[in-house]
Amino acid sequence: MERQTTRVSTQDVARQRDFCEKIALLLSAKAGQSMAYVDTYGCQQNEADSERIRGYLQSMGYGFTQDENEADVIVINTCAIREHAEDRVLGNVGALVHAKRRHPGQIICLCGCMAQEEHVAEKIRQSYRHVDIVFGPHALWKFPELLYRVLTRRGRVFENTDEPGSIAEGIPVVRQNGVKAWVSIMYGCNNFCTYCIVPYVRGRERSRLPEDVLAECRELAAAGYKEITLLGQNVNSYGKDLGLDMDFADLLAQVNAIPGDFLIRFMTSHPKDASQKLFETMARCEKVAPVFHLPFQSGNDRVLKEMNRHYDRATYLAKVKALREQLPDVVITSDVIVGFPGETTEEFEDTLSLVEEVGFDALFTFIFSPRVGTPAAGMDDPTPMEEKKANFQRLVDAQNAISAQKHAAYIGKTLRCLVDGVCQEEGFALTARTPGNRLVRIETGGEELIGQYLDVEITGANTWSLWGRLADTDCHGPCGPSQ
Ligand code: SAH
Ligand code: SF4
Ligand code: F3S
Repeated sequence: MERQTTRVSTQDVARQRDFCEKIALLLSAKAGQSMAYVDTYGCQQNEADSERIRGYLQSMGYGFTQDENEADVIVINTCAIREHAEDRVLGNVGALVHAKRRHPGQIICLCGCMAQEEHVAEKIRQSYRHVDIVFGPHALWKFPELLYRVLTRRGRVFENTDEPGSIAEGIPVVRQNGVKAWVSIMYGCNNFCTYCIVPYVRGRERSRLPEDVLAECRELAAAGYKEITLLGQNVNSYGKDLGLDMDFADLLAQVNAIPGDFLIRFMTSHPKDASQKLFETMARCEKVAPVFHLPFQSGNDRVLKEMNRHYDRATYLAKVKALREQLPDVVITSDVIVGFPGETTEEFEDTLSLVEEVGFDALFTFIFSPRVGTPAAGMDDPTPMEEKKANFQRLVDAQNAISAQKHAAYIGKTLRCLVDGVCQEEGFALTARTPGNRLVRIETGGEELIGQYLDVEITGANTWSLWGRLADTDCHGPCGPSQ
């Protein structure tokens, strides 16, 4: 396939860096340190985007604050996946009117997936007049230019034209975590699941060049990062647009070959593209974590068809079986939607039985939320909300029982875990993650252990997490930790 021209030129990115310098000059003429507040909603893709927004802001000379009253620039990076997410954002953006009253020169920016939706932009235009800049994910790389325009000319800027999307390399990054890093390997989505807004707001699927992804991963490994998560809406179709003889499994193997003591994770996978080659690659690549997030959405074939998912229940189950044949202890997690338009309780039973049959380690459960412009928003939806909620609760209860059982099986085992933070809960000192990404709370240990892989003996578990103590790594006798 011809390589598509979806790349922003290096000159255009360099121009944005010039705008950063111009803004830095403006700020240096002001007294005191200028501050920025970046608030992020939604998925890891948005977290990764916010790290680039912070990168730009830092190169403009802004410091960072968590206090909206202290901020000269506020950036709200939004999510449009469900109505609840949008309502929360609008509520918080509405409340910022008070911060701005106290701080008249403050600039408020709304970006991300909601900002790309025309009806949201219109609402902001009409009813949230304290918002100065609105820009969708396609315009993120132009943020310095947009901010410069508002800083020098005042007025409001709206930049959310619908387009297939592009890739800009060379944007500065300020990572939020010194141990775990996100690496976007592709952007957008071509799947058009009928309930989902993502393809409309994030544009068409486009892959970063392997050399760019690998260079970023090499840098991260050299900087001592312990975990790299490769991101995309459907990582399994990585490379299809590049016209190279390379797929996601090949990319994974190449990241695995980078020297360093780090784990590789990835998300998200679409079942239709999860291949035997990928499962085999995972099994032989020692750095690839034994965990697979494989959203199934529904266990009923009619509903799956209506969702435009391109697989049926049997195919999904066969993929899980093939994955477990390669990686017997793999942790499998999934997403599911309850109450898709027209789903009957009888059809919902198929979802419930699939959950029982697979035995997921964890499940992200959602009640269908109609999204403006998606086909499902216009479908007949006769099932009453009370019935959907009752089904949802049955699903949550069933999964909770499975999760508790899965977690209980860890008790007595010793696992090599990445210590990733301080635990806020009483009686615990640190948090860590198992290779399968289960949360472990550790009883004792100081902050200096954050960023280390340590053996943790699991002593207890509940539905949501595990707990334990650092194993005595000096003991190499029969009591010593297993690997
Ligand atoms: N690209 C990923 C997931 C993107 S969104 C994938 O395909 O798996 C994350 C999850 O949100 C989806 O898996 C789905 O379960 C849920 N979701 C998306 N749109 C939704 C909607 N309109 N209502 C309820 N849940 C939704
Ligand atoms: Fe949405 Fe489907 Fe694309 Fe995932 S694969 S982002 S659910 S359209
Ligand atoms: Fe939300 Fe956009 Fe991610 S809609 S889930 S932030 S891709």
